[in-house]
Amino acid sequence: MKRAIYPGSFDPVTRGHLDVIARSSRLVDELVVGVLNNSAKNALFSVPERVNMLKELMIDFPNVTVDAFDGLLVDYAKRIDAAIIVRGLRAVTDFEYELQIAQTNHEIYADIETIFLTTRLEYAYLSSTIVKEVASYGGDISRFLPPQIVARVYEKYGIKDFEK
Ligand code: PNS
Repeated sequence: MKRAIYPGSFDPVTRGHLDVIARSSRLVDELVVGVLNNSAKNALFSVPERVNMLKELMIDFPNVTVDAFDGLLVDYAKRIDAAIIVRGLRAVTDFEYELQIAQTNHEIYADIETIFLTTRLEYAYLSSTIVKEVASYGGDISRFLPPQIVARVYEKYGIKDFEK
């Protein structure tokens, strides 16, 4: 059985993430979406909130599960018997960092392979960080996020009167 992990912060999950999940889940038997539990990062959503949001969105994906992990990604991959790491590549600017991480992970754990999916052009500019920036000023984030997530982001910024 081919099990892959798609790791990330998902703070919050964007339409770009969902696209990578949908496409990569078709390439493997089982995909585990792994939310990094990183206390050092100043997150908008708690890890349980992020895991729950992802779980809600995964209802239509029977071979996708959602979990939280901490520590090294390769240790977690080993624990859950995942041989593939999935990452999305948006632009050249992502490449150097992703290459370094993929090579480091492979160096630490030779049995793990990283595969990259290039994001669809419509999501090439999209990141959770940019979405949070726009939301914090009350800007329209509806085209960036799954509909179920939009209100929850505004709520975090105390914004109630946004367009639904
Ligand atoms: O969504 P992100 O923030 O780009 O995801 C980054 C993530 C979670 C994939 C990366 O930070 C990670 O794997 N962190 C766990 C620690 C680790 O294994 N780092 C890579 C080896 S240096």
